[in-house]
Amino acid sequence: MPYLSPVLNVMIAAARKAGRGLIRDFGEIENLQVSMKGPADFVSTADQRTERILIEELSRARSGYGFLVEESGIIEGPDKSHRFIIDPLDGTTNFLHSIPHFAISIGLEREGQIVSGLVFNPVTDDLFVAEKGHGAFHNSKRLRVAARRELKMSLSATGIPYLGREGHERFIAELAAVMGVSSGVRRFGSAALDLAYVAMGRYDAFWERGLKPWDIAAGILLVREAGGMITDLDGGDRMMESGDILASNEALHPQFLKLLRGAS
Ligand code: IPD
Ligand code: CA
Ligand code: CA
Repeated sequence: MPYLSPVLNVMIAAARKAGRGLIRDFGEIENLQVSMKGPADFVSTADQRTERILIEELSRARSGYGFLVEESGIIEGPDKSHRFIIDPLDGTTNFLHSIPHFAISIGLEREGQIVSGLVFNPVTDDLFVAEKGHGAFHNSKRLRVAARRELKMSLSATGIPYLGREGHERFIAELAAVMGVSSGVRRFGSAALDLAYVAMGRYDAFWERGLKPWDIAAGILLVREAGGMITDLDGGDRMMESGDILASNEALHPQFLKLLRGAS
């Protein structure tokens, strides 16, 4: 059984409550696809409502903690050593297109270090949790990154920049480098779940540039606690600052790093 600290239990309860609302909203999306207005406004309302529920629930249980949240930004609390880093809906484009691959992501930072993390897909009821020093779990099952050691056997995931994002050419160069030597690359559309999938050994690696702290705070801890390696794309540990990230296992990480650095 996973070790769940009291604060991780609070995070799970908040995510489950907010998740029930997201499931209801997701049910509506299919109907809205065919409406003239389209579902975009509806999705941003769902996103904001989810964020509000999470903030309410978490601040009720941990009144002094601060927040860094996608929509509301920074909310300072009197307790300067703790803050929750939250993406209420990671995988918005999937949600918008009725694809049930999205998640709530909550990380808890203590003195600048992520100590608890949760990624929850309410539709599939996949709950990933990690506690610093106590391992990572998927619905109570202990997680371990994949053991594959050779690039040619590896399946990786990435994020593709889109309209309004930088780095299209660089991404194509990186993709060309990886696809030429590995057994496949996926783009599933939720960085939080991509990291959870690395932690559970489904993907051997995940890389993306230009992410935000709320996309990756919880996922970083999941990968670390599952025995994986996680760095920025220079091999350093400034993932939260730069938004550039590479997660893999110990054998493949240096190989992916070399490949990606050579491509850009
Ligand atoms: C996005 C997802 C996606 C990634 C984007 C993110 P959002 O978050 O994580 O997989 O490629 O860079 O912005 O907008 O769905 O919360
Ligand atoms: Ca996100
Ligand atoms: Ca989001």
